[in-house]
Amino acid sequence: MQLAGKKIVLGVTGSIAAYKTPELVRQLVKAGAEVRVLMTRAAADFVSPLALATVSKHPVHSNVADGAAWNNHVELGRWADAMVIAPCSANTLAKLANGLCDNLVCAVYLSAVAPVFIAPAMDEDMWIHPSTKANIQKVRSYGNHIIPVAHGELASGLVGEGRMAEPQDIVKHLADFFEKKNDSALKGVKALVTAGPTYERIDPVRFIGNFSTGKMGIAIAERLAAEGAAVTLVLGPSHVPVQDTRIQVVHVESAEEMYTAATQAFPDTDIAILSAAVADYRPEERAPEKIKKQGDTLDIKLVKNKDILASLGRVKQAGQLLVGFALETTNEVAHALDKLRAKNADMIVLNSLKDEGAGFGHDTNKVTLLDKNGGVEALPLQGKQEVAAAIINHILKLKHAEKTV
Ligand code: CTP
Repeated sequence: MQLAGKKIVLGVTGSIAAYKTPELVRQLVKAGAEVRVLMTRAAADFVSPLALATVSKHPVHSNVADGAAWNNHVELGRWADAMVIAPCSANTLAKLANGLCDNLVCAVYLSAVAPVFIAPAMDEDMWIHPSTKANIQKVRSYGNHIIPVAHGELASGLVGEGRMAEPQDIVKHLADFFEKKNDSALKGVKALVTAGPTYERIDPVRFIGNFSTGKMGIAIAERLAAEGAAVTLVLGPSHVPVQDTRIQVVHVESAEEMYTAATQAFPDTDIAILSAAVADYRPEERAPEKIKKQGDTLDIKLVKNKDILASLGRVKQAGQLLVGFALETTNEVAHALDKLRAKNADMIVLNSLKDEGAGFGHDTNKVTLLDKNGGVEALPLQGKQEVAAAIINHILKLKHAEKTV
């Protein structure tokens, strides 16, 4: 249903999994999609262009120029509602990550204005290589969708991670995407997100800050916007670009400024997610001039900042959902649940600093979601985009539960 009439460009690259692509095309066509197939030269070692041309009912192209004819990659890139690169070999992945353009698949990819879905396929050793991991992060950061690899028998004869997702899973992935797009779960919902660190000025050139980059909160804001919500992002000093132009970004520096912006926006908000790493204290006085070096020690008296989450929790109305974060190092779940109750939140995203690859500065995170109904969802280490999606799914479940009470 969701794929009926959809125009799909399939790029096939050199991996043994290419033998499954005629079946993939067949299933896409059966679901009502119109498919055009491109393949790299290496792909033709694993699957016949004739088979792909037959099932797609259109000629298959490999080169930007075929003899005297030029294959218009810009036109194809604009024609598509989605581009799928399946299987995506390690070599093609590296090209996509770096903008290389030495074949038609890469040229159409670079010209594509539609969403791109990448289904990697390679042996496990290649899949877990740091360069492959970095390339996956890179292509994901460009907004592409990665269709997760499967575990199983590999071309090497070994068993492990790296198999291309099965054709029916790729079709399902696309169908789910188009279904979500049509039926945005958060259409009409107003969301507020705080993200990043805060800087508390000591004098005109120094501040007290923390290592938060804002990546997690920005990923949440972008996911909310992608699901159709109208998003206000109150962002502390962060160097991470906000890609989605639909997001209204309010730049702030200090905890006080963040407090003011968040409390102003909150009354008109359905869902508030406070992911910022807010400084608990600020210097009591801000020196008007640069503090000169004097004695062996320097005392700076700090005073407490207002707790934004707790303040919003106090004025929260029925129907508003409030989500906080907790960074704990001991008795993590108990402390997070204390915060949930004390700040009148509906859900807490518990970050554990103990896990490698999680927390400040990383592209991945590992969190546990704890909600006011006793729900506990421990998520694996995954990309911040996936974590953002899981957080929003959990919020949607909470919202749904409230409606049905
Ligand atoms: N928070 C906030 N305003 C503050 C401090 C924290 O809104 N002044 C929010 C954070 O955005 C986060 C949650 O409160 O959603 C928990 O932050 P955390 O620093 O873990 O908790 P604290 O309450 O500051 O407790 P502690 O530092 O003692 O663990």
